[in-house]
Amino acid sequence: MKRIPIQPDFYDWRTHARTLLQEGFAPEDVDLTDATIATTLQLALEDEDPRPTGTHVPTPHVPKTYLEAAELAASHRSPDRWNLLYRILYRLQTQPELLRIEVDTDIAQLRSLVQQVRRDLHKMHAFVRFRKVEADPMDEANPFAPHASTLAGNVNPLAEHFVAWYQPDHRILHLAAPFFAERFASMHWTVLTPDASVSWNPNSKQLAFGPGLPREHAPQADELETLWRAYYSSIFNPARLNPDVMRSEMPVRYWKNLPEIDVLPQLITQSANRVGAMVQTQALKPSAAPFVPAEHTLPVINAAMPSCKGCDLYLHATQVVPGVAPSAHPSHTVELMMVGEQPGDQEDRAGKPFVGPAGRVLDRALEELGIDRSTVYVTNAVKHFKFVQRGKLRLHQNPRMSEITACRPWLLAEIDAVRPRVILCLGSSAAKSLLGGTFGLMRDHGKIFPTPYANQVVATIHPSAVLRARDQPSGEQLYNFLKDDLALAYHAALHGSSVQPDVTSV
Ligand code: URA
Repeated sequence: MKRIPIQPDFYDWRTHARTLLQEGFAPEDVDLTDATIATTLQLALEDEDPRPTGTHVPTPHVPKTYLEAAELAASHRSPDRWNLLYRILYRLQTQPELLRIEVDTDIAQLRSLVQQVRRDLHKMHAFVRFRKVEADPMDEANPFAPHASTLAGNVNPLAEHFVAWYQPDHRILHLAAPFFAERFASMHWTVLTPDASVSWNPNSKQLAFGPGLPREHAPQADELETLWRAYYSSIFNPARLNPDVMRSEMPVRYWKNLPEIDVLPQLITQSANRVGAMVQTQALKPSAAPFVPAEHTLPVINAAMPSCKGCDLYLHATQVVPGVAPSAHPSHTVELMMVGEQPGDQEDRAGKPFVGPAGRVLDRALEELGIDRSTVYVTNAVKHFKFVQRGKLRLHQNPRMSEITACRPWLLAEIDAVRPRVILCLGSSAAKSLLGGTFGLMRDHGKIFPTPYANQVVATIHPSAVLRARDQPSGEQLYNFLKDDLALAYHAALHGSSVQPDVTSV
């Protein structure tokens, strides 16, 4: 048996795994252990001259999706993950379809690790709270910047420094950091965890990683906390109050990081009255909000959506039509999300967005631009079909602003679940939902707007407007708007990445 201590780092595993494959070590011949827990005793157990019994793979290849999933799973704390990842890697050399076999024990285990890491990431994105500290971020003596000396670039000495301490379940800081870099691009911040820390320099746009720090090094309260408490009180939804779910979502040991936790007892006491007031308001204003689950993951959202009675549209539609995510595999990230208006007649019957005539116009534009629809998240601003019956025909009706607003909580939950880099609104209903009721489509289509939901939101002509155009030249012009805006959104979504076939060398 060949025993190899792996630094708790995906790239260390990858280097060893490549060599082991090339030397022909079968999974049974090796034991890959976390270097932090590999003991001298274990290493002493190593055979003098371990012999490989497997097949030599001179140039190992795997689907790119596997490497993405493996990188996520590598951040899990499970001590057995390195062996699992090597086993799957080895099997993939002769079973390229392995990843699709969901009932395979190794694949099921991989999915579970990936899911747990994703969940942990989701929590970290939601629960990190920064505090402002009075210390120069570049000063080595600054107790909150353990790697100040490695932080390249100039920092304004008067710059404010924001520091957060957080304890994730898994080793996910390197995965979580880009999210904070994007969201707080202009701030100088540091996130401390027990395993590692990271700082962002807004001038050089660089992240610098360093050692971990215990909780005692976390900065103390500041005036930002007052703001947090006020903000939390204003968004607190007493109808959703479920302390058990809160505890399971966010174990009590993490609550100490959240300034808003102080105001919770008071809000709980007031919640009965506020629920009453909300029920009255709800009677006047339709909204999906009470039906949207607190956990924003696609399986949970899609399971809850069919029971929505947030407005009256559910009464006549055949079914709710949820969004369609890019072809499922363990770690796909969504770069582009397209939001239409509402399902049409055929979508209402099929339960899928854009499968009717408007969908065919959209497919044509996608195909002409060389965009694979299965890589894009497709959904609608309103999830039920709105129509009037004329004999056997069901004629599409535009949703009212109140219906678009009522359905918005589903769209926001989907956006929160998939966090697309760019959102393309198809038509004015989707644009109104995300860019406001006064959005002018002919004036503002093809422009990129920063929003709280996604950094880049673009709106374009709805594909059915192309079909409805009275004459050929105007139909063609609308189609070209649609295609140009789609190309712009896709380009923005791919910014920083390129389209590659899904096979890569290890
Ligand atoms: N039009 C839309 O806006 N969405 C669909 O899903 C179909 C037609």
